[in-house]
Amino acid sequence: MFHTEQSNLSLYTVTALLILDAEGQRVLTKYYNPPHQNTPGSGIASDLGVGPGGPGMGGLTSLKEQKAFEKSVFEKIRRGGGEIHPLPPHLIITRTIVDLNFIIVGPLSTSNELMLNQTLSAFSDAVHLLLRGQIEKRNVLEGLDLVLLAADETIDDGIILETDAAAIAARVSRPKADSTDIVINEQTLMNAYTSFRDKVSQRIQQL
Ligand SMILES: *[C@@H]1O[C@H](CO)[C@@H](O)[C@H](O)[C@H]1NC(C)=O
Repeated sequence: MFHTEQSNLSLYTVTALLILDAEGQRVLTKYYNPPHQNTPGSGIASDLGVGPGGPGMGGLTSLKEQKAFEKSVFEKIRRGGGEIHPLPPHLIITRTIVDLNFIIVGPLSTSNELMLNQTLSAFSDAVHLLLRGQIEKRNVLEGLDLVLLAADETIDDGIILETDAAAIAARVSRPKADSTDIVINEQTLMNAYTSFRDKVSQRIQQL
């Protein structure tokens, strides 16, 4: 669990987590609409200036709004100028890996840049681990179930859960049967047989 000292950063820190391809097309999009979206301007989140009605959360609820947003994000990436882009009211941190752009979005006024950056690194590194170092659009699409699980282990409801890539990857891959490292092959069977045979002959000599 990731806890920040400043409590106003712990609520709905992340607005969206995106993977766009080299043409700006969607590969994965997660928008974190906080609960009670229908009652903006009320509750703790509003008092803290985040969440519903807070900076960064508005204007991204419909598919049309999201696509327009993704277009302007991609435009920023294409123009270059580093990995951190203010796009008011959003703060966008991007990382290009092979033919994919990993993007994390937070509210400009309340986001902690380092925390967002660390979260983006954790997610992309976890994907790297889960896909055995093969981050490419093709592989990400093939392993999209794993990538989505990794996203859910990293951020839940806009709240950062984990910033350790290995921990994220471990949680995603734990249920798989092949994660137990017991390898039974011809050699191990041979070794077991040899040691059994030696023991038997020792016993026979002792009789
Ligand atoms: C963001 O994270 C990357 C990779 O961990 C690092 O190289 C870069 O310096 C970080 N940027 C900032 C502004 O912290």
